[in-house]
Amino acid sequence: MNQPNQARERAQAPAHVHHARLIDWVARIAALTEAANVRWCDGSEAEYQDLCAQLVAAGTFKRLDPAKRPNSFLACSDPSDVARVEDRTFICSQERDDAGPTNNWTDPAEMRRVLQTGDDALFKGAMRGRTLYVIPFSMGPLGSNIAHIGVELSDSPYVAVNMKLMTRMGRAVLDLLGTDGDFVPCVHSVGAPLQPGQTDVPWPCNPTTKYIVHYPETQEIWSYGSGYGGNALLGKKCFALRIASTMGRDQGWLAEHMLILGVTNPQGRKFHVAAAFPSACGKTNFAMLIPPPALAGWKVTTIGDDIAWIKPGQDGRLYAINPEAGYFGVAPGTNAETNPNCMRSLERDVIFTNVALTDDGDVWWEGMGPAPQHLIDWQGRDWTPQLAAETGAKAAHPNARFTVAATNNPALDAAWDDAAGVPIDAFIFGGRRSTTVPLVTEARTWRDGVYMAATMGSETTAAAVGKQGVVRRDPFAMLPFCGYNMSDYFRHWLGIEHRLQSSGSSLPRIFCVNWFRKGADGKFIWPGYGDNARVLKWIVERVEGRADGEGHFFGISPRFSDIDWSGMDFDEARFAKIIDADADAWRDELVLHDELLNKLALRLPAEIRATRQAIEAALPT
Ligand code: GTP
Ligand code: SPV
Ligand code: MN
Repeated sequence: MNQPNQARERAQAPAHVHHARLIDWVARIAALTEAANVRWCDGSEAEYQDLCAQLVAAGTFKRLDPAKRPNSFLACSDPSDVARVEDRTFICSQERDDAGPTNNWTDPAEMRRVLQTGDDALFKGAMRGRTLYVIPFSMGPLGSNIAHIGVELSDSPYVAVNMKLMTRMGRAVLDLLGTDGDFVPCVHSVGAPLQPGQTDVPWPCNPTTKYIVHYPETQEIWSYGSGYGGNALLGKKCFALRIASTMGRDQGWLAEHMLILGVTNPQGRKFHVAAAFPSACGKTNFAMLIPPPALAGWKVTTIGDDIAWIKPGQDGRLYAINPEAGYFGVAPGTNAETNPNCMRSLERDVIFTNVALTDDGDVWWEGMGPAPQHLIDWQGRDWTPQLAAETGAKAAHPNARFTVAATNNPALDAAWDDAAGVPIDAFIFGGRRSTTVPLVTEARTWRDGVYMAATMGSETTAAAVGKQGVVRRDPFAMLPFCGYNMSDYFRHWLGIEHRLQSSGSSLPRIFCVNWFRKGADGKFIWPGYGDNARVLKWIVERVEGRADGEGHFFGISPRFSDIDWSGMDFDEARFAKIIDADADAWRDELVLHDELLNKLALRLPAEIRATRQAIEAALPT
């Protein structure tokens, strides 16, 4: 009896917590990290306001003008901590080959020494002088049989308030866990312990040492040194993608870097589409799309903007849920013309990170609209349009983001919170490619579609630290997020065909899109955003068997006459430039595919190579 009481005391567990394993774990982490204090989050509005006030007092948050942006805050990070750190992200499976050649791997025992047990293990004393927040959260609707629970222990109150908006967080989750419910343990420290009397900085982090670590076999997450986004909000990429993808592999479902949208045609028939685009390549925008006035009979509603959990239903169709409850979206480029639903979502109750502050207490970012004459940039420096013209200085960091609850979105789908999910009619894959890849292509078969997704390339963006604008292979937009061997992941996707067909149900169609072809002037040829509805229309009409297209060496694309151009002035010559699949360019592209396939050779399914050979054989000479 003594032992549990000691643990309860060390964990500072409130009376309503009855989960011995949870209490014991919190006690152990509090001891390891030497946290000064433990605070169990209840997820209430009062707690949110209290933590926000505390963040304002600490200088992490600035409260925005309550008249212009009610209940909203701006946080500016340390310049060393602005995006995901892919080269510091590790999959620590027992076997190196189970992580595969596209992931960083370290032996789990070795990693535990570095983080937990070694003489100078990073988590030892990491929370000195800080409060440890216990953040219980559900990914997916509370109590749904597709949802999974996690508990994040973090020394960052910024993480706690973001988790409140991004997940179903708080006391209800603890109640659901009861005395012995399962949860994924997630440990996070900014890696900046405080000495007695040392004053804190507005954005504590460890500027030199970062580790984002996953143990897939024991389903644990340990993150050290960063307070930003996917590095720190562990329910998102770490749990809902890297750990969940391994759950999906083992249990026969899919965890994907996909938006989910509903699209209703003028006859009132509704379709559901899930689309995977790499980071900062248009998921949030596509999920909130408003069709142009000439396509006014069409309506798009948002189920999710970043992650989909997809499971076969009783009827053999694939059903998707959004495990998140909020959006952590890219600010730059977002404006009232290109994404009015997003701008309306951001009118109140928002946490902005790394955007610029206006002199009247509001926010601004590049691409929002005309620049004010003076701003405080994301690093706290004076910024003027003249300075930007002379030096190229950005007011907002290119990976500046907003955090907002899904319920702020005026286009939120009625079924967004439905535990049963929505049936998927089509999958779309798309990268950011200034050349080579056509506006839209339908795969002839499931297998061809898997190949297209597996070999997708995209130019790198500011969402991850590293060089930008370099084409890299990003299979299924999952390169940084697949928690296991990418070849096994391809096999898992190929296997869906047999699983669904044996239940007699029709498979979703697979399409691949590219909004980002550029002309000789370096500008995007396709206007994108709302006009992407024209492509979406072609896609769902293909699903219905109503739209035509033209076959070519790797799929079927629309001819000019197959797209609805009403209300738009876009001539056939320009269309030719974005729909064209050039044989010479594709010969070069196949060489890039080969680089990936060679890297993945060890466990690569034979169907993938066979599809590649078939495309080469079909290339016009
Ligand atoms: P993550 O949150 O990183 O996963 O990104 P995302 O895929 O949700 O991308 P998002 O919709 O936030 O868009 C990223 C950037 O691409 C923003 O600056 C957008 O303005 C821009 N963008 C989105 N859609 C389009 C489009 O159709 N055309 C063009 N040219 N840019 C787009
Ligand atoms: C992405 O990079 O794909 C994101 C942002 O959605 S983060 O949560 O930081 O991973
Ligand atoms: Mn994302």
